[in-house]
Amino acid sequence: MQPINSNEPLDEIRQGEVTLLENGPTPRGDKKLYLESYGCQMNFSDSEVVASILATDGYQTTRNIEDADLVLINTCSIRDNAEQRVRKRLTEFKSLKKNNPELVVGILGCMAERLKKNLLEEEHLVDLVAGPDAYRDLPNLLNEVGTGQRAVNVLLSREETYADITPVRLDQGGISAFVTIMRGCDNMCSFCVVPFTRGRERSRNPHTIVEECRELFKNGYREVTLLGQNVDSYRWNLTSKGAIIEPNEATVNFAQLLIMVAGVSPELRVRFSTSHPKDMTDEVLHAIADHHNICNYIHLPVQSGNSQVLERMNRGYSREWYLNRIEAIHRIIPNCAISTDIISGFCGETEEEHQSTIELMKEVCFDYAYMFKYSERPKTLAERKFEDDVPEEVKGRRLTEIIELQTGHSLLKNQRQIGQIQEILVEGPSRRSDDQFCGRNSQNSMVVFDKKTAVKGSYVFVKIVDCTSATLMGELVENKNSEHP
Ligand code: 5AD
Ligand code: SF4
Repeated sequence: MQPINSNEPLDEIRQGEVTLLENGPTPRGDKKLYLESYGCQMNFSDSEVVASILATDGYQTTRNIEDADLVLINTCSIRDNAEQRVRKRLTEFKSLKKNNPELVVGILGCMAERLKKNLLEEEHLVDLVAGPDAYRDLPNLLNEVGTGQRAVNVLLSREETYADITPVRLDQGGISAFVTIMRGCDNMCSFCVVPFTRGRERSRNPHTIVEECRELFKNGYREVTLLGQNVDSYRWNLTSKGAIIEPNEATVNFAQLLIMVAGVSPELRVRFSTSHPKDMTDEVLHAIADHHNICNYIHLPVQSGNSQVLERMNRGYSREWYLNRIEAIHRIIPNCAISTDIISGFCGETEEEHQSTIELMKEVCFDYAYMFKYSERPKTLAERKFEDDVPEEVKGRRLTEIIELQTGHSLLKNQRQIGQIQEILVEGPSRRSDDQFCGRNSQNSMVVFDKKTAVKGSYVFVKIVDCTSATLMGELVENKNSEHP
């Protein structure tokens, strides 16, 4: 899952650790909710579900924390520093609670799930703790809090997908939306806390996914990002759930789901995240190649370029397998951008093993990467089996080498696009100037250009004239109108 916050600059619109609510179902009541989200796209998507559940319980969202009756923090546990940031943020709420003793503070998400009721003991101003599968219970938990108790629900579910809940759309400019297609993870990568915080993998009914995308399109959205911890293992068993789409099909796999969503409209761009190298099939690659509106961009976390490290990480593939998947992407989808995640200093990583990551990066030349220092997480396989023995300064030095190499590669990849005319979905005003729009090309690069006649939510052609390692600068090609992405 791609993080919203990383050590690389992200994009123009979705960057930022704080999400403020903008719209949603009309709430029946005048209670005010302030909601902050940390971590990955899935967390941001969950916050939209939470906002929807609480809207029907009478909560109106507010951008102003001082006005709130209820403050909810949707948290991340992926690395220790993600948790530390939340703890620091909580200390800032002390004065709020002093001014308004009735204020209710709740912790949601992965940290809630990991720490359970211990959070109440460790953080005295927290009134409510709800794990990722417990959001339907929030109105009951709030009632409990109303009677003077502190409330916890961290039960994980094998079935919950919130399939029937229409999320309140948060501040993504009304053009691009996240749609969760599955929850949980069964992979057990040895470094990862997610299987413990988000439970077993389960897929969402494809009818509800397509319906949600259709509704988004009707409401002016032009891009959906299908979210799952491992989208390639999406599988809906039609017969056992009693729903039939095609008479002869027993299941819907990810490639078929992609095609179903792409069928909503040729004007709706489809993206997805995250792919897993061990499960990504050629069928998915062909679905991308065959559909103009399925974007030419794949986020394929490698984690390490060394097969021994990958084995210790329990990733289920080798360096060779990963390179074979990269080769398949280039063979089947011409002009496909590839991004990745890399961890530096995993347990026992030698200098030689680190060098094989550097070599793999040189071989693949990723368009973009999210890069992290290994952070040991309680209860994970790695914590139980291996020693976190790479010194902090070595982890840091290796990470710096990785980031420097990647920054050069990102710049090179962007420079190669100068002179091209690209189709861009206009997402909204650029952060730098009101006279400029920003939007992405199919390959997910952010492009900034002077507004001129362009309209938010439309597809335009832009000639790329300049770049940094993070952004492309372009000029609108005004006499070329696009009918579909
Ligand atoms: N330490 C550092 N990075 C981690 N990630 C997951 N767990 C850890 C950890 N314990 C990274 C992986 C993953 C991304 C979402 O976060 O690269 O793909
Ligand atoms: Fe997302 Fe939870 Fe993983 Fe953080 S720990 S990246 S919030 S799934």
